[in-house]
Amino acid sequence: MSEARLGVLGSGTGTNFVAIAEACAAGRIPARVALVLSDVPDAGILARARERGIPARYIPPGPFRTKLDEAAERAYVSALQEAGVQWVVLAGFMRVLKSVFLRAFEGRIVNIHPSLLPSFPGLAAWRQAWEYGVKVTGCTVHFVDAGVDSGPIIGQQAVPVHDDDTPETLLQRIHQAEYELYPRCLAALVRGELEVQGRRVLWRRPAKEPPGHG
Ligand code: GRF
Repeated sequence: MSEARLGVLGSGTGTNFVAIAEACAAGRIPARVALVLSDVPDAGILARARERGIPARYIPPGPFRTKLDEAAERAYVSALQEAGVQWVVLAGFMRVLKSVFLRAFEGRIVNIHPSLLPSFPGLAAWRQAWEYGVKVTGCTVHFVDAGVDSGPIIGQQAVPVHDDDTPETLLQRIHQAEYELYPRCLAALVRGELEVQGRRVLWRRPAKEPPGHG
């Protein structure tokens, strides 16, 4: 079977992309990043991809602020399909995807969100959690559906909130958890170890020991 191809979309610095690319290079995710796309022409994620020799393109998003217009969605989909991408990985992509995109990659788009969903969907989730006063927050990897941060949850990692945290120190701790969680979830995804039953995503790891041995 040929190696799985990931397409990563991001609007920002791309530190999750780096964690994913490194996990691919180290063989921890049996895949490679075939293409990085951004809606921001000077996004750090594009520079980080190019440094690693990974094709990276800015594709203009169109006139809207929080979504791609339909022509832009078609351009993103074409670029990903031409690169042979099977899995679309959102890593800090700041626009919601609409029907053209969702239909083209149905069930094959994942996202990471910096809170324990369904708490604190939407923007600046770490700040929402800090302001609310929760003692535990974290990050969530989930499938993308037509809602905002609402698709079936693949994995979550908890992060404590300390009394002396600022939103910024909390965010740093969440980022560290993201760099572990996202590669772990992507590895299971591309290995075909995830089974979706309605909203529930079950991890079907191949048994290491024959049945009856623990
Ligand atoms: C991450 O915190 C992720 O949870 C959110 O956007 C941020 C992206 O950061 N969706 P980076 O671009 O990977 O550094």
